[in-house]
Amino acid sequence: MKYFLIGFMGSGKSTVGKKLASHLNIPFIDLDSLIAEREGMSITEIFKTKGEEYFRSAEKKQLTELCVSKEDFVIATGGGTPCYFNNMTLILNHGISIYLQANSAILYSRLSRSKAKRPLIMGLSDDELKNYIEKKLLERESFYLQANIHISGLSVDIKELVSLLAPYSK
Ligand code: S3P
Repeated sequence: MKYFLIGFMGSGKSTVGKKLASHLNIPFIDLDSLIAEREGMSITEIFKTKGEEYFRSAEKKQLTELCVSKEDFVIATGGGTPCYFNNMTLILNHGISIYLQANSAILYSRLSRSKAKRPLIMGLSDDELKNYIEKKLLERESFYLQANIHISGLSVDIKELVSLLAPYSK
């Protein structure tokens, strides 16, 4: 089975994904790391030198390859992944999706500490970051909410998550 963690930047996808993968004893994949590895440069460098459009098409390509593979895995997608092309349909058709929900205040407190390594928000002031999160979350939620399971991303109990996944895992 393939498990897709989706949600806004800073919602905890990688942390929860690693825990879930280790609990299920299947590989964990970080989509951003995979793209960076394939492109031979960091996500920040890709945005800087090749632009967001290039990044989105590389993201779609890697997601598609993984979806059609026969492997089982847990994947942490990027915050924008479900919102471009038909990526959310791909995700829905190839496994179980989990939306890690977090409100804009929580995202702000997490992202204001880590914005330097995130190309979409690295240049923003505190006020601009607050507005960016509110606007983008509103735009993106209609994609995120299509996920099979919605769970608060803050303090995910893996056993509870696994029990929510059970009806879908057959
Ligand atoms: C993005 C989120 C990032 C990364 C890229 C774009 C977005 O992933 O894919 O910087 O559009 O929200 P994380 O959600 O893992 O930070």
